[in-house]
Amino acid sequence: MLAQKMPSWLLALTAVALTANAAPCASTSECSPVSFDVAATAQNAILSPSYDPNNETSVIEFINAMARGEVNPVVGVQEIGGSFLINGIYCKPAKGVKKQRNALQILVHGITYNSKMWGGYHFGDKYNWHAYANSEGYHTLAIDRLGHGLNSKLLDPNTVVQPTLQVQIYRQLLQCIRSNTKGNSLRRKFTNIIYVGHSYGSQIALPLARLYPELTSALVLTGWTSRTNFSEVQKFNLASASTIYPSRFPGVAKGYLTLASESLRTSLFYYGGYDPAIPTFDFANQDIVTVGEFAANANPAFTSPPENYTKPVMVITGVEDSIFCVQPGVAQRECEKLLEKTRTDVFPNVPAKKYEYFAPRNTGHDLTLHYSAPETFERAHKFLNKYF
Ligand SMILES: *[C@@H]1O[C@H](CO)[C@@H](O)[C@H](O)[C@H]1NC(C)=O
Ligand SMILES: *[C@@H]1O[C@H](CO)[C@@H](O)[C@H](O)[C@H]1NC(C)=O
Ligand SMILES: *[C@@H]1O[C@H](CO)[C@@H](O)[C@H](O)[C@H]1NC(C)=O
Repeated sequence: MLAQKMPSWLLALTAVALTANAAPCASTSECSPVSFDVAATAQNAILSPSYDPNNETSVIEFINAMARGEVNPVVGVQEIGGSFLINGIYCKPAKGVKKQRNALQILVHGITYNSKMWGGYHFGDKYNWHAYANSEGYHTLAIDRLGHGLNSKLLDPNTVVQPTLQVQIYRQLLQCIRSNTKGNSLRRKFTNIIYVGHSYGSQIALPLARLYPELTSALVLTGWTSRTNFSEVQKFNLASASTIYPSRFPGVAKGYLTLASESLRTSLFYYGGYDPAIPTFDFANQDIVTVGEFAANANPAFTSPPENYTKPVMVITGVEDSIFCVQPGVAQRECEKLLEKTRTDVFPNVPAKKYEYFAPRNTGHDLTLHYSAPETFERAHKFLNKYF
């Protein structure tokens, strides 16, 4: 494929600063779009030849069979490499913020979302992670994951847009931000980098923490636990993005998928206390997930736990997150037990005193888009403020 010899990351990683066309953020923040040109190479999965990548029905049947455990999606590995443009939004605390911390939070969204999710769209600062973090003195960088947001949708959704390559890209990105002052588009380096994930963005923190524990100083994993309920994943009712939104995704390959039903998306991602205008906006503006993201993530070699990670970890998941916590009606304590067990399952070497969890009530999967969001932000930062 696009395999190429990489010079040192310093040469290969040319960061591009765009015009600081500030997005409407809180008064405690100064935000600007940024992009990074990242060279990376990974051993991506070769997917089972049992489906036709150009046939929407076949792609979706393949993913559903995978969720039911009926097909082994990965049959081998192959090297995939290249140079990838990764877009995002960088916000820093305004000068008036008293306590300025020398720490960057990198915010990594889940499937069918993009970097905008962390800003709460236009629904106000109560849903804006950047605004809260910046007011606490942290810098924030929300990235579009490979294939999502403003990033190219011309990459092959089967062979290229996979989590293994994503981990290598985010590794190079973090290395650049950690050590390069002038050449990265943040225009300063950070050695304290806190990885904040949501859902799939939390899931891919595991291989990053396992393979490159030195790159992060703490993890905050939201909308995630060590147990995924695959019966819920089977309800996704996927369709090709180019079928559902022909004007937004014209000609995009069939393996770029979205959720076909608004009511189903709402019932999977929202519960209890939320503004009903949000899931409607969310559905109309949803992003993609690729067949490669589903298939390669099911590979145990990829998802094995970061057993030697010792840095602070916090996990925050809505009680009624039916994919990762409990079904509505099940006691809050059951969700909290699962969050406790997540430490022993996945982070056995994170000392109990460096591990915290929080399960906001009356809250589904997209916790930062629920009424409980301010409490989630407060709890996450109370935790981080002990260390940074
Ligand atoms: C697409 O795949 C489905 C399910 O495997 C199959 O029934 C159908 O015939 C295929 N369509 C084409 C045009 O190959
Ligand atoms: C998983 O979800 C299904 C519904 O999709 C539900 O019946 C089942 O109880 C859930 N499993 C757990 C362990 O929560
Ligand atoms: C964790 O450390 C042990 C002891 O050094 C080592 O045997 C094991 O392979 C490490 N695990 C990982 C995932 O690196």
